[in-house]
Amino acid sequence: MATESKSLEITKARQTYSSELSKHVGEEVVLKGWLYNLRSSGKIVFPQLRDGTGIVQCVALRNTVSPEVWEALKGLGQESSLMVRGTVRADERAPGGFEIDVVDAQVLQPVHDYPITPKEHGTEFLMDQRHLWLRSRRQHAVLKVRHTVVQAVRNFLDNDGFTLADAPILTPAACEGTTTLFEVDYFAGEKAYLTQSGQLYNEATAAAFGKVYCFGPTFRAEKSKTRRHLTEFWMVEPEMAYASLEDVMALAERMLSHVAERVLENRVEELKVLERNISKLESIIAPFPRLHYDDAVSRFEWGGDFGAPDESYISSKFDKPVMVHHYPAAVKAFYMARDPERAELALGVDVLAPEGYGEVIGGGERATSLEFLKEQVALHELPQEAFEWYLDLRRYGSVPHAGFGMGIERCTAWMCGIEHIRETVPFPRMLYRIRP
Ligand code: 4AD
Ligand code: MG
Repeated sequence: MATESKSLEITKARQTYSSELSKHVGEEVVLKGWLYNLRSSGKIVFPQLRDGTGIVQCVALRNTVSPEVWEALKGLGQESSLMVRGTVRADERAPGGFEIDVVDAQVLQPVHDYPITPKEHGTEFLMDQRHLWLRSRRQHAVLKVRHTVVQAVRNFLDNDGFTLADAPILTPAACEGTTTLFEVDYFAGEKAYLTQSGQLYNEATAAAFGKVYCFGPTFRAEKSKTRRHLTEFWMVEPEMAYASLEDVMALAERMLSHVAERVLENRVEELKVLERNISKLESIIAPFPRLHYDDAVSRFEWGGDFGAPDESYISSKFDKPVMVHHYPAAVKAFYMARDPERAELALGVDVLAPEGYGEVIGGGERATSLEFLKEQVALHELPQEAFEWYLDLRRYGSVPHAGFGMGIERCTAWMCGIEHIRETVPFPRMLYRIRP
């Protein structure tokens, strides 16, 4: 009973976050978190407290805290939950610049068998422990960068006159080809799929609002097990009525420059934890080089899509992202508009990130002719009934329009300079991973 009322009291105490300590130097504060690490030497223990905003070192002396507190702290295991009351002291040598002189502490749950220890673990093990791994410094840094990427994208589009109009997740029609579709057996007499892209719906909302974007999870039953592919990923997709391939390229380079700028500005500490080479991000400034497929392909055989090694080869020639445009229509989706001068080319663009990160953006101009699209639907063996609503957009006020999709995880991996995109989403879904 006594412990309950005591814990209630300390839970009620106003919480100060480790990120706010500069405003509380000399004051007594209450920090609430988890034990990141504990060092001790005789009559002194140094619990490092992790509270989601940072890690702060606390100092508890045997003869200044109560015997109960001393017993509770001494030998406490990693990831025990605890609250600490103490005085904030500025200390240049301390990791975050501040230390806490502990006056009182309360352990909510002592832990002694946390599965992730400071020793090296294999990635498969860590991925199985993903629900806990998220607490580690590096994973925390990656996900903070992801948050900034998302925030930057939203701010950029919101400030540029785009209206958020989200697309459905359950759809009757394939957008990006039938080989990566997830079928859902639920709707009576009708096939449904998890969306591969909100684009087709964006085209409808763009005709209603002019400039729109959708931002949500998208799904690909990718059989490829690569460092760039997830089964479930988040995509931001802007779409503009009365716009061309040129407009899309201009938007893509402005948006990516903005994202890099925001990451550099707001995630200094995280980029340090990730040991990111900052100069690589500093060079992401519009305009980006543009490369016609004909010129990009010179080293490969004309007509194919680029594989990951091809993309890496092409982008290795530049220190900025490169925009490859006018791909052969045969390797692109059914909705792509064609070059009026060379009908075999699609008015599409892929933005290839440097350092081997590959395609981060794909998009282009959409076909506007009803007859042409009907042909394409048939040619791609898509069921026309499922696309009737989409074809209506070409029956009622068809206009040139264009847009793109950017994968949030690929962009985040690039910003962070990390090897695999599986670490850029809290709970990745991949060919062989549905848990945790
Ligand atoms: O190039 P994609 O397939 O384009 C589309 O889906 C268009 N309908 C988008 C549009 O124009 N509105 O995908 C766009 C981006 C890629 O450039 C990549 O960043 C990401 O989505 N992406 C993936 N990210 C992680 N895992 C996967 N399996 C991905 N597939 C695509
Ligand atoms: Mg693509």
